[in-house]
Amino acid sequence: MAKTIIKTVDLRKTYMQGKIPVEALRSVNLEVEEGEFLSILGPSGSGKSTLLNLIGALDKPTGGRLFIENIDVSTLNDNQLADLRMKIGFVFQFFNLIPRFTAKENVELPMAIAGLSKGVRGKRAEELLEMVGLASRMNHKPTELSGGEQQRVAIARALANNPRFLLMDEPTGNIDSKNAFEIMQLVKKLNEEKGVTIIMVTHDQRLAAEARRTVHMLDGMIVSETVN
Ligand SMILES: Nc1ncnc2c1ncn2[C@@H]1O[C@H](COP(=O)(O)OP(=O)(O)OP(=O)(O)O)[C@@H](O)[C@H]1O
Ligand SMILES: [Mg+2]
Repeated sequence: MAKTIIKTVDLRKTYMQGKIPVEALRSVNLEVEEGEFLSILGPSGSGKSTLLNLIGALDKPTGGRLFIENIDVSTLNDNQLADLRMKIGFVFQFFNLIPRFTAKENVELPMAIAGLSKGVRGKRAEELLEMVGLASRMNHKPTELSGGEQQRVAIARALANNPRFLLMDEPTGNIDSKNAFEIMQLVKKLNEEKGVTIIMVTHDQRLAAEARRTVHMLDGMIVSETVN
């Protein structure tokens, strides 16, 4: 049996909009195993990003429990949370690259924060950019790259510190369909060949079906699950 890497128990999130509570997550119970490729599918407002942000420890739940590798995240202090976030790879719809930095410098940044030497991080950034098919674009800045290429840089950056898992929120949301297909092939390759655990949020049924398993969200709850 593969080991459970993420587990949520009755996870809840209520936002306050002024004085009005918005129940974004009602009671989410989810387990993700190491090496899985899971997609989270649901319409706009169903709570997908809220769930992903909680799993990534970017935000705190208002109820329930989140376990990452059997550790109850609510017991961690701020320093421990910061350490945990360093072990999680994030990829967002808007690539969030630093415009002044080249592709290589963008990929090096998380490794610099982690304290790796210039030589080590430079070499690893080159390897990662090669892996995502950007060997010939390493010294380009984001504005000199297509949307698909920018997202590849973001994926390479997310992998820089060998994360325990990769969280992707609509990773092809701002990319044309041809490049979106290529990004999905890359994501599948990372999962199948490199064993990266991936959770991908999307509202697109066809993209969700590229994952091995899909959970369907509606109104802040997981309402069903399919194996693709
Ligand atoms: N910071 C916030 N403050 C108040 N309400 C919020 C906040 N973030 C999200 N919500 C609300 O929580 C609900 C779930 O939002 P969420 O962003 O998780 O949905 P989503 O499934 O990711 O939607 P989309 O597909 O449009 O990205 C929505 O009703 C949204 O309006
Ligand atoms: Mg969202």
